[in-house]
Amino acid sequence: MVFMMTPDEISELRTKQYNATVVSLKLANPDLMIVRVRPDAGVPPHRAGQYSTLGMGHWEPRAPGCQDEIPKPGEERKLIRRAYSIGSSILDEQGDLPDRVGQDWLEFYIVLVRKADHPPALTPRLFHLKEGDRGFLGEKIAGHFTLEPVQPTDNVVFLSTGTGEAPHNYMLWELLSKNHQGKILAACCVRYQQDLGYLAIQEELTHRYSHYTYLGLTTRETTNQGQKVYIQDLITSGQLEDRLGDTLDPARTHVYLCGNPKMIGAAEIDKATGGVIYPQPPGVIEILTQRGFHADQPSLKLKGNIHIEEYW
Ligand SMILES: Cc1cc2nc3c(=O)[nH]c(=O)nc-3n(C[C@H](O)[C@H](O)[C@H](O)COP(=O)(O)OP(=O)(O)OC[C@H]3O[C@@H](n4cnc5c(N)ncnc54)[C@H](O)[C@@H]3O)c2cc1C
Ligand SMILES: NC(=O)c1ccc[n+]([C@@H]2O[C@H](COP(=O)([O-])OP(=O)(O)OC[C@H]3O[C@@H](n4cnc5c(N)ncnc54)[C@H](OP(=O)(O)O)[C@@H]3O)[C@@H](O)[C@H]2O)c1
Repeated sequence: MVFMMTPDEISELRTKQYNATVVSLKLANPDLMIVRVRPDAGVPPHRAGQYSTLGMGHWEPRAPGCQDEIPKPGEERKLIRRAYSIGSSILDEQGDLPDRVGQDWLEFYIVLVRKADHPPALTPRLFHLKEGDRGFLGEKIAGHFTLEPVQPTDNVVFLSTGTGEAPHNYMLWELLSKNHQGKILAACCVRYQQDLGYLAIQEELTHRYSHYTYLGLTTRETTNQGQKVYIQDLITSGQLEDRLGDTLDPARTHVYLCGNPKMIGAAEIDKATGGVIYPQPPGVIEILTQRGFHADQPSLKLKGNIHIEEYW
């Protein structure tokens, strides 16, 4: 999309609308980034697992190889904003668990959506960024997806697809920093091995912490042909309990779900009958509900032991 704007106009819009600087940007693969952003006004108070907003102007260039946008007159001076979970590399450059005191940036883990049922607006622009560039970062950090309901001896299971690992990593950092007593298991399902952007750190953590297990699943490597294992299959096959080293007991287990809505499988209420309808094939919520778990119901302010963050 080409807007007729002068460099001065663009510079003025950036000065007016941007409030943060990219301090570090690493590509795990060409379509997957770990980016750290420093807000001019300082990092707002927040809890591990919450999300903020990133934004860039419609006037910014898009990474090549992405679906073309259809220009909409009047949009060219507006910001595109999207929600992003705050992530964590868990360990710092020295290989230690950082204490985060004085940390003036937030980390995000973002996949490039090249095409979708409508032209993706923000990620093609985020993937044009480089270190030192400016952008918009929301002033508030929000969300109910936190460790608040977890007791020190509870088992904690983090299940994700793709970049859904981001908030889990931040919560994992919190649990490890607080010497959490219960067992912790994180599983992440991605298309290819190269989409496991934190794999080396996760493997290091499993060596260091005997109560932590990480399972990275791929679905599209040649080795997966004819034997694709989804997150749901880990539960139904019993493999998840084997690797956790404990049963999935709803009385002392919290399950966190983040990523692809089909993996999560949130129920809808049938307007005619008031009954609950789960999407098919079953997602994790239906499978765990049959085993005595209860999903959070934020509209009713009810906390369960399945906690959910859906990305789309
Ligand atoms: C609370 C919350 C937290 C989020 N955190 C993250 C995050 O940490 N990292 C991240 O990459 N995205 C995250 N998202 C998604 C993000 O807000 C954007 O939707 C996404 O980056 C695509 O933006 P876009 O403008 O390019 O395309 P959009 O028009 O927003 O999305 C186009 C389509 O891309 C697909 N899609 C969107 N996000 C993803 C994704 N993460 N993985 C796979 N397919 C996707 C969906 O089919 C969607 O309809 C989060 C969303 C929410 C609601
Ligand atoms: N990852 C890449 O290599 C890549 C490259 C270029 C562009 N993109 C774009 O980036 C976006 C995100 O891709 P992504 O791979 O991060 O996310 P994704 O499409 O949500 O896939 C993540 C994982 O979820 C699995 N999954 C799909 N349906 C499921 C279900 N019903 N239940 C449980 N798991 C399920 C996928 O398996 P399946 O293999 O069965 O789908 C995959 O392993 C997409 O728009 C994509 O087009 C990705």
